[in-house]
Amino acid sequence: MGKLTRFGVSLDEDLLEPFDALCRRKEYGNRSEAIRDLIRKALVEDEWTSQGDAPVAGTLTLVYDHHRNDLARRLMNMQHDDHDIIVTTMHVHLDHHNCLEVLVLKGDSGRVRTLADRLLSCKGVKHGTFSGTTTGQDLA
Ligand code: NI
Repeated sequence: MGKLTRFGVSLDEDLLEPFDALCRRKEYGNRSEAIRDLIRKALVEDEWTSQGDAPVAGTLTLVYDHHRNDLARRLMNMQHDDHDIIVTTMHVHLDHHNCLEVLVLKGDSGRVRTLADRLLSCKGVKHGTFSGTTTGQDLA
């Protein structure tokens, strides 16, 4: 961890009051920790948007009916094509038809994003969410 530096921030009260309320709701002990999290969030977002193919991590959740259109096989084939950026998968049989799959992805942002988009847009996937995060390596 680097040296601790203090800096002053000037804020309009109209911005500070709702920020303090947010800090209370999110149970931050103080403003500094809340501001540190906001900065980290911005840096992680920058890894995804401005740094080309930065190494990133993420989780993808898919819900689909495995009976539909050979979907389970198609999703599996796509995953095998990019097996090197899939760290692990978990498959849950929600009921007779529906499956929930969670994939942990790690690799260059472009490839991770592309695989997530391909799986999410696969015909028959009922719902899916992708959450991009960081490998944590360059984040204090
Ligand atoms: Ni299943």
